[in-house]
Amino acid sequence: MNRQELLNAFFDIFGTDGAQPVCVFSPGRVNLIGEHTDYNGGHVFPCALTIGTYFAARKREDRKVRFYSGNFPQNGIIERSLDAIEFDAEKGFSNYLMGMIWAYDKKLGIRIEKGLDVYLWGNIPNSSGLSSSASVEVGMGKVINLLFGFQVPNLEIAKTGQFSENRYNGLNCGIMDQFAIAMGARDKAMFLDTATLEFEYAPIQLLKMRIVVICTNKKRGLVDSKYNERCEECGRALQDLQKVTDIPALCALTDEQFEKVQDAISDPVARKRARHAVTENTRTVKAVELLKKGDIEGFGKLMNASHVSLRDDYEVTGIELDTIAETAWTVDGCIGARMTGAGFGGCAVAIVKEDAIDRFIETVGQKYLEKIGYAADFYVVEIGDGTQELKE
Ligand code: GLA
Repeated sequence: MNRQELLNAFFDIFGTDGAQPVCVFSPGRVNLIGEHTDYNGGHVFPCALTIGTYFAARKREDRKVRFYSGNFPQNGIIERSLDAIEFDAEKGFSNYLMGMIWAYDKKLGIRIEKGLDVYLWGNIPNSSGLSSSASVEVGMGKVINLLFGFQVPNLEIAKTGQFSENRYNGLNCGIMDQFAIAMGARDKAMFLDTATLEFEYAPIQLLKMRIVVICTNKKRGLVDSKYNERCEECGRALQDLQKVTDIPALCALTDEQFEKVQDAISDPVARKRARHAVTENTRTVKAVELLKKGDIEGFGKLMNASHVSLRDDYEVTGIELDTIAETAWTVDGCIGARMTGAGFGGCAVAIVKEDAIDRFIETVGQKYLEKIGYAADFYVVEIGDGTQELKE
C-alpha cells in the first residue's frame, strides 16, 4: 500500500475535512533464534520484515478517539474516549492502540488532550506470531509522537509498547517484539542482550538463500495461551536457583553452570523450562558467532536444535509446528527450520536455498495438509526497516 492509497482509505472513512493526516509504517518481525529467552535475561536475534501495519491519523478538536481497521471492516468505526482510557474487553484490537495512549500517560507522563482518528491496515497474516500486536503498538506510539509533537525515541516507544502489553493487555511478554519492530534495519538482524538492552546489527547476507515463514493457520490467542504459565514456571525455577547461586536471571548461567545447580529446582517441569532458557541462550550466542564467520550451515543446525529444545523441554510447539519443522529438516536445500515467536501455533521460520524453495513448499505443504487437515501458508520474506513515518 502506498501513501496515497493509505490517505484515500483514510478519507473514505473519516472524510477530507481537517489537517493533512500523518502516515506511519510499522513492520512485523521474525525471530531467527533465541526463543523464550527475552523474559529470562537472555539473547535474541530477530529482524523486522517488509510486511507490517500502515497508519493514517489526524488530530481531532474533541476528546474522541476513533479507530477503523481496513482488515476488520465488519467492526466499523470503533469509538473510544480520552476520558475512559482503561482496558475494555469488548473493544477488541483497539485495546492495543488505546493501551499506548494509556502507557504514554502512565509510563512516560505524557498525556494527550485532544482526540484522534486513526485508519490502519496490515498485511501481516492474522494470529501468525509475526507480532501484529507489537507492530500496532509501536506504530501507534509513532503516530502519537507525530500528531502531538513529541520526540519519544523509537527505543523508548518499544519499552512503552512492552509496558502497555504487560500492564494493559495482560501478556507478560519480554521486549523482543517491540524492540525488533522499533529498531529494525534493512537486511540486518538485531543481536540483542535483553538483560542490558545492548545490541548490535548483524548483516544477513543469505547468498542464494531466502528466509521462508510458514504459517500454521492454527488460531490462538496469546493471552489465553500458556505463555504466562511458562513465564511463571521460569520464575519459580529462578527462585529455587537463587537459593544456591547468585544470579539475576536464568540466562546468566552457562550450560555447565546449569548442569551443576539444576537439582536445586524442585519441580522437574520447571527444571526443563529452565534448561531450555539456558541452552537456548547459549545457542543464540553461538549461532551469531557462526553467522559472522559465514557458517550458515552451522547457524541452521542450531536453529534445528532450538526447535528440539522448544519441543521437548519448553513444550510450546504442538503437532502443527512439529510437522512443519520435522518435514522441513528432510528437504534437501533447507539449511535450518524452527518454530518462531511464542509457539502454540503461529509460524515457523526456515532458511532455504533459492533453488530448493519450490520443492520445500511442495513437500512441507503436502505433508502438513495430510497430517493436519488444512493448509499452511508460505511467505518468502524480506528484512526491512523499523517503524517510521511515511513521508510524501
Ligand atoms: C512472544 C513475546 C516475546 C517473546 C516470544 C518468545 O513473541 O511477545 O516477548 O517472549 O514470544 O521468544
